Amino acid sequence: MLKINLENSFVNTSEIKNMEPFIQSAHRVLHEGTGPGNDFIGWLDFASRIPNEEISRIKATAKKIQGNCEYFIVIGIGGSYLGAKSVIDALSHSFHNLLEDDQRKVPKIIYAGQNISGKYLRELTELIEKKDVSLLVISKSGTTTEPALSFRVLKEMVENKYGEESKDHIFAVTDGSKGALRQLADKESYESFVIPDNVGGRYSVITPVGLLPLAVMGINIEDFINGFVQGEKDYSSVNIEDNICYQYVAARNVLYRRNNNIELLVNYEPSLQYVSEWWKQLFGESEGKDGKGIFPGSVNFSTDLHSMGQFIQDGTKNLFETVIMVSDTAKDVAIKSNEENLDGLNYLSGKTLNYVNQKAFEGTLLAHVEGNVPNIILQMDKLDEYHLGNLMYFFMKACGVSGYLLGVNPFNQPGVEAYKTNMFRLLEKPGY
Ligand code: PA5
Repeated sequence: MLKINLENSFVNTSEIKNMEPFIQSAHRVLHEGTGPGNDFIGWLDFASRIPNEEISRIKATAKKIQGNCEYFIVIGIGGSYLGAKSVIDALSHSFHNLLEDDQRKVPKIIYAGQNISGKYLRELTELIEKKDVSLLVISKSGTTTEPALSFRVLKEMVENKYGEESKDHIFAVTDGSKGALRQLADKESYESFVIPDNVGGRYSVITPVGLLPLAVMGINIEDFINGFVQGEKDYSSVNIEDNICYQYVAARNVLYRRNNNIELLVNYEPSLQYVSEWWKQLFGESEGKDGKGIFPGSVNFSTDLHSMGQFIQDGTKNLFETVIMVSDTAKDVAIKSNEENLDGLNYLSGKTLNYVNQKAFEGTLLAHVEGNVPNIILQMDKLDEYHLGNLMYFFMKACGVSGYLLGVNPFNQPGVEAYKTNMFRLLEKPGY
């Protein structure tokens, strides 16, 4: 199970203990639903409440999509896409879209509606013009500009391609009763799933928003759900000694109060890059408000040691790192001896890439700690559905409690509206 190591966090045991009463109070506010945003805490025990019929319908729909397309296009932005992409990238083959057809059991996946680039959408439509496709449009509000624009274009393409049968190639996840997408899904009889009212976008990976795309990509959603259910138990104790999630909350908040106001999520596995993107949205939208909050950033090591390593080691001292390490990555490459040894790497013969990666982590940890950068280490046993589900629940719970500790509403995002209002005015949208 997930472990935390605070030995290099520069936060001592008594400082963690001193945070306990404040964390317990934030815990109560969250669990008793007495805080701001209390109508968005459905994610807390969502995993243990998913009806079996919902799981069966998700799996049946996934099977249908797997069987009817070469390209599976997921349209959504923010919380309506980052969760699914992060899990799919973490658990799929590193080159899953490039595998030969006979090596791949699931469609190729492409994301759309997460930007407003004409180049991106034009090239996507050119790519899929002669291919079989299925669209999954995900939008809680059903009115977000980016996915709505892409869906308008791609839907027309699918309708031209499949005519009467186009409804077999269009699927939706949206609100149960409100919004333009709900209206359209009902009118066109698309197979559709509901995002519950009491779960916000960035907490929605455990709802059909995440589960349907995961199932299409061959990911075991029952194991993923079980990881969440285990998280509900693992991170429920109000005693800080028994709850590593609250130890993480305490450590990052002690550091924040010492002006370490940038947290970098670090990984040593490229497949975790989008877990960091998901995490950045989770903490950024939840905590960054009212002039407060830890800025969430991310780096992928050892890659970014060759770009950001200098700054982390030697730059402004307002950072701390939270490192995700995976004990068993399942796959590895052995390093063989070479007679000429021109590259000078024979000292590593008999070792593996993962061994070297581990030493890169240990060496970096020593260096950054010497450079006065606090490090929190999270150790995952394995990178699989169960452990990733558990890690995501860990972060969601930490985020909700951290938000209340900071005195903000962790479940709204009023600041996101400012750019939209200006953009709509510039676009002369009626009413702006
Ligand atoms: O977390 C959030 O609430 C946002 O990131 C939304 O998920 C994002 O703006 C997309 O919204 P919608 O699902 O309504 O299209």
